[in-house]
Amino acid sequence: MPQNASALALKALTEWWEEMGVAVDTSVIRAVTAANPTRPGSIRDLVPQNQDRPKGTPDQVRGNRKTNKTKSPDTLIAEARALAASAADLPALKAAIEAFEGSPLKAQCDKTVICDGTPNAPVMVIGEGPGGQEDRTGLPFVGKAGQLLNRMLAAINLDRKTNTFITNVNYWRPPGNRNPEADELALCRPFVDRMIELSQPKIIIAAGGVAAKCLLGTNTGIMRLRGTKQTFTLPDGTEFPIIPMLHPAYLLRRPQDKSRAWRDLLLLQAELETMGVVI
Ligand code: URA
Repeated sequence: MPQNASALALKALTEWWEEMGVAVDTSVIRAVTAANPTRPGSIRDLVPQNQDRPKGTPDQVRGNRKTNKTKSPDTLIAEARALAASAADLPALKAAIEAFEGSPLKAQCDKTVICDGTPNAPVMVIGEGPGGQEDRTGLPFVGKAGQLLNRMLAAINLDRKTNTFITNVNYWRPPGNRNPEADELALCRPFVDRMIELSQPKIIIAAGGVAAKCLLGTNTGIMRLRGTKQTFTLPDGTEFPIIPMLHPAYLLRRPQDKSRAWRDLLLLQAELETMGVVI
């Protein structure tokens, strides 16, 4: 195999693993390709030996908790709140999120993934957080789930270019694509709130259970929340309608549930019509 073909195959393979949620040790891959670029190396060299039980202390598995050990979670949240409040518009808010060093996840990922689409759009989709492809590109919902999300939105005339804004409740990819922890979400929350405040969407879509539970402050599962219109409330009491939906990544795994997602999209369309929003 030509030298660059081997490197490309290795890159494709490891990207695919990351999409599937396998924690790939990229430093090992770099070392293997540098040592022998024509030999991809053994699979055993590239991934942790026990995928079911990630190695390291619990703190290492959850993220690099050493970061910011000097500041309490409350202090970090207060910092996030102050930064978010000082952002007068969306570009300033994006810069504030980029500048925020409080999340232990930040040191372990490539990019801060903030938002995409049309600012001040009537529809705001809020997902769980970046996966492998989002981490590489810095844009939300660009992997397979994102492509399905685009198709779902297009079915009711929504798209990023004209009428939809897309963001997440977490801006940094957790190791191994695990779900973000409550304390990690709490650090992002002031920015999420400010983004909603600045964007003033007519309606919010919570994509998946993590986003829905986080935004609604509930433990109710997505299967019970989906298909209903709920209310999202900012700290100052401002309310926005919100429709929880099944996450497109879940729908890729369970295509038989797409009919439920279709009903939720029709509910969203009906709500927009009731509000007089032309899409
Ligand atoms: N899943 C999410 O919830 N958000 C993304 O940005 C990508 C995948």
